[in-house]
Amino acid sequence: MEVIRTVATTLASCDEARSNGKSIGFVPTMGSFHDGHLSLIRRARSERDVAIVSIFVNPLQFGDPADLAAYPRNEERDLTIARELNVDVVFAPSAEEMYPQGRPDVAVDPGPLGERLEGASRPGHFRGVLTAVAKLFHAVGACRAYFGEKDAQQLALVRRMVADLSFPVDVVSSPTVREADGVAMSSRNARLTPDQREAAGCLFLALSEAAELANAGERDAAKLVAAMAREIGATPEARLDYAVVVDEATFTEVREIRTAARALVAALFGQTRLIDNLLLPTA
Ligand code: PAJ
Repeated sequence: MEVIRTVATTLASCDEARSNGKSIGFVPTMGSFHDGHLSLIRRARSERDVAIVSIFVNPLQFGDPADLAAYPRNEERDLTIARELNVDVVFAPSAEEMYPQGRPDVAVDPGPLGERLEGASRPGHFRGVLTAVAKLFHAVGACRAYFGEKDAQQLALVRRMVADLSFPVDVVSSPTVREADGVAMSSRNARLTPDQREAAGCLFLALSEAAELANAGERDAAKLVAAMAREIGATPEARLDYAVVVDEATFTEVREIRTAARALVAALFGQTRLIDNLLLPTA
């Protein structure tokens, strides 16, 4: 396995693979791997000739410097895991390599969807995400890129960027990997106290209730939203940020569930903000 620190060497390595007729699978991450990351890496490994994983804790997508400083970093462990999974290349650049002039003046504008939901609670977040992802896509070149449904709004925005800005990238998504109690795996879970960790189960419970209602034929999105808010509201450790039902294709909120729709929730557990979502069944 090659560990590459520069954009130029990554591009040269990927160009060489493509010129030899090899397909490339790319998994962008911020490291500190958990089973959610591993499911994406395994898929890239099995579907493409060359598997490349990036590890970069992108400062642009953190609003709060304390949040960036507290982000877990475990490069040695991540590299060991990547080797075990037969990854070919890990691209792990420094912030100076990615942003040699410091914070870039020219960045990717995520458009209206970037301002809503996660974007409303975290101003500038998606601008930072898309700018980093665009740069990573340029470093890798034509590839199939793997993203988790866990970050559904991020996934929708990456798809939109690829379409709107003509990146030669085929974006595919994988289902959310969960703990035994349904809590979505996240590097943020490690920051929860034992009480908060137990309480975090209310997010998946709320989503599951919404899914049950949809499955039973309920078409009024407000009823699903109320059920989710009630479940999370009944959990003292949780402070609800939002509970919504959006159209799967446009990511706009719906009143009536007619086509594929996704329920999304976000809540604070102490200082730790968790998100989760579930595609609703169409009964
Ligand atoms: P990170 O949080 O490290 O996530 C990397 C990828 O793993 C993302 O596509 C994310 O959706 C996916 N993922 C996280 N938890 C998951 C879970 N429980 N099940 C399945 N997939 C999961 O997302 C980022 O990094 C960054 O924003 C990045 C795209 C790398 C840009 O900096």
